[in-house]
Amino acid sequence: MDIKKLMSQMTIEEKIGQCVQLIPSFLDENQKCELTGPFHISNFDEKYIYNCGSLIGVSDAKSARELQAKYLERNRLKIPLIFMADVVHGSSTIFPTPLAISSSFNPENAKVCAKVSAKESAIQGNHLTFAPMSDLARDARWGRNMETSGEDPYLNTLFTKAYVEGFQGDDLKDEHTLASCVKHFAGYGLVQAGREYNTVDVSERFLREYHFPAYKAGIDAGASMVMTAFNTINSIPATANSWLFRDVLRDEMKFDGVVISDWGAVLEAINHQVAEDRYEAAVKAMNAGCDMEMMTSCYTSSLRLAIENGDVDMKCLDEAVYHILSLKDKLGLFENPYRFADEGLEKSVVMCDEFKEASRHVANECPVLLKNEDKILPLENDDFVLTGPFADSNDLLGPWSWKGDVSQVTTIADAFDKKVMKDINEVMSSSQETVVYVAGEKSDESGEAHSKVDISLPEIDVQNIIQLKESGKKVVLVLINGRPMTLSNVIDHCDALLVAWQLGTMAGNVIADILTGKVNPSGKLTMSFPRHVGQCPIFYNDYQTGRPASKAVDHYVSKYIDCENDALFGFGEGLNYSHITIDKIEFDSFELNDEMKVKVHLSNKGVTGTEVVQLYINDLSADVIRPLKELKAFERVMVQDSEIVEFTLTKEMMAYYNHKNECKYDKGKVEIMIGLSSNEVQTFTIEIK
Ligand code: BGC
Repeated sequence: MDIKKLMSQMTIEEKIGQCVQLIPSFLDENQKCELTGPFHISNFDEKYIYNCGSLIGVSDAKSARELQAKYLERNRLKIPLIFMADVVHGSSTIFPTPLAISSSFNPENAKVCAKVSAKESAIQGNHLTFAPMSDLARDARWGRNMETSGEDPYLNTLFTKAYVEGFQGDDLKDEHTLASCVKHFAGYGLVQAGREYNTVDVSERFLREYHFPAYKAGIDAGASMVMTAFNTINSIPATANSWLFRDVLRDEMKFDGVVISDWGAVLEAINHQVAEDRYEAAVKAMNAGCDMEMMTSCYTSSLRLAIENGDVDMKCLDEAVYHILSLKDKLGLFENPYRFADEGLEKSVVMCDEFKEASRHVANECPVLLKNEDKILPLENDDFVLTGPFADSNDLLGPWSWKGDVSQVTTIADAFDKKVMKDINEVMSSSQETVVYVAGEKSDESGEAHSKVDISLPEIDVQNIIQLKESGKKVVLVLINGRPMTLSNVIDHCDALLVAWQLGTMAGNVIADILTGKVNPSGKLTMSFPRHVGQCPIFYNDYQTGRPASKAVDHYVSKYIDCENDALFGFGEGLNYSHITIDKIEFDSFELNDEMKVKVHLSNKGVTGTEVVQLYINDLSADVIRPLKELKAFERVMVQDSEIVEFTLTKEMMAYYNHKNECKYDKGKVEIMIGLSSNEVQTFTIEIK
């Protein structure tokens, strides 16, 4: 398609229309769709309806075809709509949440989830997904942790890349691909006090070092779209921040796709008090480089006048339209506006066994075993009581599964084919010694707009667990959760703790398989579990201070007087049913010239299992403060009897952003720490030459 030629035939209204995203009910009031934000569009100028560029949340193939056909009949230049939706961890076949998937330390799982999601969603008529979310998450109070890959920037980049590759495949014209939108640019995970939509105040250096790399990895992997964040950066709402979008995203990161606002974020400039009205909000967003406005009408009400007044350059609008039309072209919409929407396939392929198996396979690697006293797990036989609020619940899909059908979820009770004992007195007086207690958070306790200040288990569960333990039972706590939770009040009363997360369609089967040892757990935490909510934000890659806490010095040091500093469970922690240890670590040199090889010898005295060997660094003397531990490499490895994992260290891996915001490494001493968790490492000092 010759986009420039097409644009030369477009009126200014037709161009502005392309920059607008609406919900399907504007075209057909009977259409049901995903609503993920407040509805601000009143008195929408009707002339834009059949010029609008995109619809969000079209629900199925039939609707997609009908809406596209109706639209094209009325659109003068027959420019097809692009359909977008949040397909975050599965469309109908739901996979584990991204936070759960990251616990597998296996980016391939993200790719599989994205590929299957793309296939289902493309058949259901969708063209683009608002995923992955690449925001770095370090505050357990924030509801959106479940959508992230956790607290480590390196993992975040690897997972972002894998999702984008999985959704998009090699070419967006290839069958059953979806365009991918990396979000939310930038730093949304830093909302103050973990409160959703709150202000972000972060240094440029931290942004560059810890936050930008994942978005950049998505862009380098070919992401088609970037979404603006709701938060401010440098006191300017991201959506109106031209430094962020023009200088960083376009000029530095070389992004040439579409920038879309988050839901209503253009208009929110008024609430942020940086715009007086829709006109000013539109001018600021368009000038900042926001090509498409999601679900508000600032562009349609004001851009024409703003261009006439010289407040927005026509060139800006043309660029935006060019980006949007180019994406439609890449998706093949001009040749086939219906793309892969297919009612027949929808019936046969969506939720097919192959997809459910893929979800199950991914989910097998996500749960994290954090405690297993006296090897109480795996359960040896059926002689246990199953109880707790989630034991027979099908609320296991997690947020962002708007097309997921809870009635299709096998509960844990179903998977065990076991009756759940509801009455705690009955459980206590039962003859069985072992109790599997399934508790946690409902799906609507995390996700967007679900920040919390109390991230502990409900009091009733805490009391039940304590009573059970006191009555002599052995308690296996299975946690269903979308975020790290505080478990200090129950952990000593549990013999085992399995963090199962929200595992999706196959959750019940996977949890049963892990509890019975059919599947050996292999997940590791990618977010720290605080001891107390007052520690938030808490993350393993924290800094030394001028007054570090130590056993020797107890006063006037950086510590709490009523709680330890460290997490209850830290990054990289996770047990299995094997007995895998690191026997020997060999460095080919302790001087890093070009590169250095490290060999880690592992042995296993138990059943075959999978470990994640983790390599961290700590730069002992740098230009700016450095994290005490930074993950630089890891390897997920299955160990039968013994295995050797080899890492290659390079100088580039030692680079960081210095005070001039240049990414460089220093000469001098660096600690290399290797272990099976961030808490238990062997430390070696090397010298960078
Ligand atoms: C969320 C985005 C999402 C969008 C569209 C917003 O409220 O922040 O992540 O993609 O809605 O549903």
